[in-house]
Amino acid sequence: MTSIKPHGGVLVNRIATGVEREALLTEAASLPAIIVNNWAISDLDLIGVGAFSPLTGFLNEADYRSVVERMRLADGTVWSIPITLAIEEAKAAELSTGQRAALIGEDNTLYGVIDIESIYSVDQKHEAVNVFKTDDIEHPGVAKLYERPSTYVGGPITVLNRPVPEKFNEFYFDPSQTRQIFAEKGWNTVVGFQTRNPVHRAHEYIQKCAMEIVDALFLNPLVGETKSDDVPANVRMKSYIALLENYYPADRTFLGVFPAAMRYAGPREAIFHAMVRKNYGCTHFIVGRDHAGVGDYYGTYEAQDLLRSFTADELGITPLYFEHSFFCTKCGNMASSKTCPHDKADHLTLSGTKVRALLRDGVCPPPEFSRPEVAKILIEGMAEQPVN
Ligand code: ADX
Repeated sequence: MTSIKPHGGVLVNRIATGVEREALLTEAASLPAIIVNNWAISDLDLIGVGAFSPLTGFLNEADYRSVVERMRLADGTVWSIPITLAIEEAKAAELSTGQRAALIGEDNTLYGVIDIESIYSVDQKHEAVNVFKTDDIEHPGVAKLYERPSTYVGGPITVLNRPVPEKFNEFYFDPSQTRQIFAEKGWNTVVGFQTRNPVHRAHEYIQKCAMEIVDALFLNPLVGETKSDDVPANVRMKSYIALLENYYPADRTFLGVFPAAMRYAGPREAIFHAMVRKNYGCTHFIVGRDHAGVGDYYGTYEAQDLLRSFTADELGITPLYFEHSFFCTKCGNMASSKTCPHDKADHLTLSGTKVRALLRDGVCPPPEFSRPEVAKILIEGMAEQPVN
């Protein structure tokens, strides 16, 4: 069986082992140090394991400018989200290109090293408008961008120590592992599903529609940093496990986390999400309504339109597009405007805010919206969370 090619052709591996690691650990003690936050550590690790192939490090200036302007690396490979390392200007003044620096976490762990190729300052507003299509600081991705210094350091990285998950370790897999697992299971076609939410009936519906035409589903929830009013990853993980146990065929589903931060960059993030899932070994990728969107910054199908603007060869993974889905009381089933002739008044729609309010009050949303096993876990989880 030939598995799908990683983005750019080769699965990047920049995790140092053995003597190489020992030598770098020793060398790091005398290198200038860059303190990195959890977001940067997550990017570092995902680069290291090849989830962000073909990236071998944080973007250098040429790649950064090319990604921001035209959604491609300098060599033309499709890449839509700038993966960058921001540092204080004073720190930048201490560093020079050609130098190696140690990447140290706020917990004092040495996570890796970077071989500095370029140090550059950026126009954050320009980045925001290009990547997020807005410079409104109410946008959570823009707010995060503006919190960072505007000097970036780019170049190849090497990982020396991996971040250790606090919980649910058994659902962490590197792309080389998922690729091997899919092959061992004999799956030729695997559809990847990105989510930062609990899986509700609409998600389940589009996943199962996709499962009708592929061998298996890779449920790949994003569990890195999300905005504070999203359901915390630990609660979501419990809900995914319960959902799979009760409603999905075990021999055709696989749950593994995507430990990346959520950017909320809508259309551009949809492309990024698809490329990453290709690296994990998926052949297909689900893109529904307002993928990776927030508020009303992006059109409902803008992510789908952007993906369509690239050729099949450029993407190398097949997007599966789904219309907004809902439960229709007249049809008596899940549907979308493609399959249901009835009026909007016959469709059950609940806003995220409304659902959160119900859950906080300990009330299960209707079963047409959420499986009761999922709702129960969310109610318990919400009860433990501070009110936003
Ligand atoms: S996302 O930020 O990770 O995209 P979410 O977890 O809500 O948010 O969505 C996961 C996937 O399901 C995305 O591809 C999204 O477009 C799709 N999706 C979410 N809700 C619906 C819906 N009601 N109908 C169709 N697709 C949906």
